[in-house]
Amino acid sequence: MDVEERIEQLREQIHFHRYRYYVKDAPLISDAEFDGLYEELLQLEAEHPELVTDHSPTQRVGSEPVSAFEKVRHAAPILSLAAGHSVEDLFAWRARLGRLLSDDDQQLQYVVEPKIDGLTVVLTYERGRFVLGATRGNGRIGENITSNLRTLYELPQRIPVDSGMELDAPDYLVVRGEVFFPLDRFETFNQAQAEAGAHIYMNPRNAASGSLRQLDARITAARPLTLYCYDFIAWDDGELPDSQWQRLQYLHDLGFPVSSDISHCQSIDEIAKAYEQWQQRRNEINYEVDGIVIKIDDQPLAASLGAVGNEPRGAIALKFAAQEKTTKLLDVVVNVGRTGILAPAAVLAPVEIGGVVVRNATLHNFEEIARKDIRVGDTVVVKRAGDVIPYVVGPVADLRDGSERPVQIPDRCPFCNAPVMRVPGEVGIYCDNPSCPGQLVRRVEYFVSRGAMDIDNFGSQTGELLIAEGLLHDVGDIYYLQRDSLLQLEGFQEKKVDNLLAGIEASKQQPAERLLTALGIRFVGWVVARLLLGAIGSIDALAQASEEDLVRIEGVGPQTAASVVAWFRDERHRALLEKLRVAGLKFASESEGFGAQPFNGLTFVVTGTLPTFSRDEVKEFIEVRGGKVSGSVSSRTDYLVAGESAGSKLDKARSLGTKIVDEAKLREMAQEA
Ligand code: IVH
Repeated sequence: MDVEERIEQLREQIHFHRYRYYVKDAPLISDAEFDGLYEELLQLEAEHPELVTDHSPTQRVGSEPVSAFEKVRHAAPILSLAAGHSVEDLFAWRARLGRLLSDDDQQLQYVVEPKIDGLTVVLTYERGRFVLGATRGNGRIGENITSNLRTLYELPQRIPVDSGMELDAPDYLVVRGEVFFPLDRFETFNQAQAEAGAHIYMNPRNAASGSLRQLDARITAARPLTLYCYDFIAWDDGELPDSQWQRLQYLHDLGFPVSSDISHCQSIDEIAKAYEQWQQRRNEINYEVDGIVIKIDDQPLAASLGAVGNEPRGAIALKFAAQEKTTKLLDVVVNVGRTGILAPAAVLAPVEIGGVVVRNATLHNFEEIARKDIRVGDTVVVKRAGDVIPYVVGPVADLRDGSERPVQIPDRCPFCNAPVMRVPGEVGIYCDNPSCPGQLVRRVEYFVSRGAMDIDNFGSQTGELLIAEGLLHDVGDIYYLQRDSLLQLEGFQEKKVDNLLAGIEASKQQPAERLLTALGIRFVGWVVARLLLGAIGSIDALAQASEEDLVRIEGVGPQTAASVVAWFRDERHRALLEKLRVAGLKFASESEGFGAQPFNGLTFVVTGTLPTFSRDEVKEFIEVRGGKVSGSVSSRTDYLVAGESAGSKLDKARSLGTKIVDEAKLREMAQEA
């Protein structure tokens, strides 16, 4: 394909995807993929200016508004922003400014704002009344969605003019803002949509867009939309403050909602730091942020620099790495958990998301697969955000070619062929066979893990091999493994066997609380195990307790009580306990044992990337030693465990004078106590 053909192809693709995105609210590719196409086109056009034509998408903005709403002409063009993707792009922007600015103006200040992933709205006020609200449309002509916008609680219907108070708005004022769907309400909302058989939205942005474009404003009113304002488009009489920082303050004082996640930066280095911190925290706030926007604080100076096309020179958007990509769903496999739950997992065509190649993702449960109508062979949207395990958001149904197959819900366990069971009131399906080898692998894995019996030199492959070789039929068999039979196994030399047996022997000294945790009773993790034994004293006494006895323990609810009683009632579990008792494990709590937990009574917060611990591991490390892990720094936080690229939590801890430790220090503290 020659350059001309490629350019034409890119233009067609961009037109098509714009239409899908803006008009149909149903994008087929991710924002990042779209940006990729657009950037390639810009690049080729820059290299071949003779091929630029009026109909190229680079020469116009957005798309045509849909016909159902009345069209309105904006008071001034609603501009867009040039986008960068790295700190290098930021430095390049600053260098370009340096060449444009006079010597007197080189000392710049900046405002850094979140780039909210929502929809631009343009709000007009006359004599203090909200009279017109419009979408951005193509940047010059938008759609009149006033009645929909009136339903937003946070959007001021009145602002002060001639109030005789200190602060007044101009008689005529046009403000720009971003409407979005708060994240905490998005999941619940989609759930309700599904139950009502209504449209399920792929992400909060599409939900916001779909909600704003309802022809019936009563529907919009029922959606929890909100907005942040950040710019002035037009105004009469008087001057606005020159500084963007003060303009935001002014917007806020007039009653407009303004994001508080903004910062006033004095240098590019400071912005680069803010950019890094934002990448860490973007998943901690209640709205989707796809980058930061950097604006020259001095707005008249910024305006004097003009624009390239519809992108003002005085501002730039620095985007974050995409957290969502589309890829093919190659297969759906079924995994079994230690409780017997049969969980579907996606096998994906490998796709890079945020610097990591993703091949597998969770599909939560079969009910959700059916609800979202996910089929094998579908193009699916996959999301990987922060510490969250990658998951399949949903299918792009419009890309189907008819070869896709619905996902079969298994009626038998793929590991032992036992019929599956459903628990009333639960969405999961279960394998009910206690001797299922698949379940046993997971149970052994859990039993020996750091949070439970913490058996050294006993990896998950060891468990799998011992089960396959018929040496383990339940977790009790771990304590009856024979040196001779282990030496028969492939790859098990003397030293390896001795280490394994020594680890197993040492674990017999673990306190009863750990054994109770390791049994894997539903709802009985480390914390509950300690509560139970703290109150009841021993595993034997617990076996005799009734549900009424148990719910009387502070922190133990009816669900846990029922689960514990049912577990001990099972003959097979009683036999297992006998096996463990004969092996010499501890059944009675030695309360001074856990009274002396090193982190007892201490609250920790973790931030940044630690050298060796993952987030789950450090949480477990702290909790099994009696500490608590909380999500945010407050005056009650005893220690902040900070790793690399620690963000706002570190700042907060510093400002509160909270003790800050690294991973090495944390390990030291655990040793010392
Ligand atoms: S400033 C000339 N500030 O990001 C001013 N935009 O292309 C241009 N956005 O379409 C916009 N948050 O919808 C600005 N704090 C913010 C923003 C923001 C989100 C959106 C806006 C625009 C896109 C950038």
